[in-house]
Amino acid sequence: MSDFSLRLRQWQQHSGRHHLPWQVNDAYCVWLSEIMLQQTQVSTVLDYYPRFLQRFPTLADLAAAPLDDVLALWSGLGYYTRARNLHACAQAVMRDFAGQFPNDPTLIASLPGIGRSTAAAIAAFSYGYRAAILDGNVKRVLTRWAGIEGYPGVKAIENQLWQLAESLLPASCTDSQQAASDIKAHTQGLMDLGATICTPKNPSCLLCPIASDCQARQSDRQAELPTRKPKKTIPEKSTTMIFLRNAQGELLLEKRPPTGIWGGLWSLPEVSPSDPVAQIANQFGLHIQLDRALPAFVHVFTHYRLTITPQLAQVVGSDCAKESANTAWFSPAAALAAGIPTPLRKIIHSI
Ligand code: ADE
Repeated sequence: MSDFSLRLRQWQQHSGRHHLPWQVNDAYCVWLSEIMLQQTQVSTVLDYYPRFLQRFPTLADLAAAPLDDVLALWSGLGYYTRARNLHACAQAVMRDFAGQFPNDPTLIASLPGIGRSTAAAIAAFSYGYRAAILDGNVKRVLTRWAGIEGYPGVKAIENQLWQLAESLLPASCTDSQQAASDIKAHTQGLMDLGATICTPKNPSCLLCPIASDCQARQSDRQAELPTRKPKKTIPEKSTTMIFLRNAQGELLLEKRPPTGIWGGLWSLPEVSPSDPVAQIANQFGLHIQLDRALPAFVHVFTHYRLTITPQLAQVVGSDCAKESANTAWFSPAAALAAGIPTPLRKIIHSI
């Protein structure tokens, strides 16, 4: 049996979900459930959905309600833009479509808060309209089944997946009742497969109706597909820190500004590598002599990588920097006991 949709529908019939409360031929109920299910688990929606319907039994009730009442019932579901769009959508359907959800997914997708995949799901479940869905779960199923490499958030990959999803729809059928039941089982089958079998981790391939020609399974790439979002390359920065000791072997530290990296910690003065001697003279009134530089090392922050070159130096003669609230000499032990950044701790230990 090679037909993808046939295998999927047969599996959905005996192993899929059939008793979810929104599995009804009513566009209002289907739409409401699809919006609730966008970022929320089925178990949570099972709790909210009936309460919502009890308060707003029809689209007209929802459209006529104050937004605050809608938000109050949505409270706890999160992503409140969904609730605002829900309200605006109900009003748009009342105003522009005489209170009847259109059946054409392109028209449905023109309404507030409804994207292409949700529009297709509403059209398929409510009206038996033959349209492809492509939510996150379906992307996972299809990238694995067809062995599609590349992050699905990239337009080119997403377009490829839409084409594939459309090519896998059940064959058009002249019996309109049969066609409607086929597209409903197909759509629900994809959702059920993604939610229960083709899970992100440890998919249950032995139970999967499309495993026999699944490319990921054949090459054991279930864990690699779908390709994860590429990590942003983080910026590279570099700095020279001056490890300046006085005649007593104490170390000059500066208190960093309260905000920004290492906010409020004591750290080594940072200097321009081109003329540290003049800079220290200007800034601290100290005459210094450069010693060797320690090997540079990288410290990784969340937003960038900092290459630190520690430049050793000593004060010439008995010059002494004026101590202030933000500048002080520390013995190595006192420095280690103070609030200092990890890289400085490393430097002190390495010397
Ligand atoms: N997730 C999104 N739509 C769903 C539906 N109709 N049934 C189960 N889970 C879903």
